[in-house]
Amino acid sequence: MKKIQISPSILSADFSQLGAEIKRLEAGGADMIHVDVMDGHFVPNLTIGPPVIKALKKNCSIKFDVHLMISPVHKYIEAYSDAGADIITIHPEATENLQASISKIKELKKKVGISLNPETKVDVINDYLNQVDLILIMSVNPGFGGQKFMPEVLDKIKELKKIQKEQNIDFDIEIDGGINFENSKIAIEAGANILVSGTTIFKSNNGDIKRNIDLLKSK
Ligand code: DX5
Ligand code: ZN
Repeated sequence: MKKIQISPSILSADFSQLGAEIKRLEAGGADMIHVDVMDGHFVPNLTIGPPVIKALKKNCSIKFDVHLMISPVHKYIEAYSDAGADIITIHPEATENLQASISKIKELKKKVGISLNPETKVDVINDYLNQVDLILIMSVNPGFGGQKFMPEVLDKIKELKKIQKEQNIDFDIEIDGGINFENSKIAIEAGANILVSGTTIFKSNNGDIKRNIDLLKSK
């Protein structure tokens, strides 16, 4: 089994001191930083763009796991790559040509992630699985932090694990949305090896980040 990694979402951080929040996450044992990029079009919320990511990245050495919830995504891939994204995750519905977008991320020497919304089936990306570094399974409808976990998406993780075995291919399986100390265990058992968490990391146990990261990993 792969080592379990935690990718805290800065969506739940104190935006008035994002740099310091990232330092706290690094010190607390985060494996990477999950950056939720929203455009008010692909999803109903608006968050941060490349200049903010660039400024944050300058002051730290941790990997940036950038989740792009923007459409059309293709023309922005390079800007997020230049800003310092290490993993660039896109949604198939947000690009006119998924193959071209995957190739673009690879050309830029970044890790490729593809994200599946709760209602999106694995079939949509079957033909691309041998090219990706990561599949991000959404366990809430994207757009906001603090939503309720949808356990039915775990079947897709099991399906992906089966495909990995049958086709002898490897990629990380990340889960995003509503992860807490109760459901982290079933997500890991299903086969997820990277857990994204915003609310649980920043708000549980009075914001004791190290404790919350340790608890999510140990469950
Ligand atoms: C939702 C985002 C998630 C979310 C995670 O669109 O992709 O990363 O903010 O936050 P919690 O853990 O609060 O659900
Ligand atoms: Zn996300």
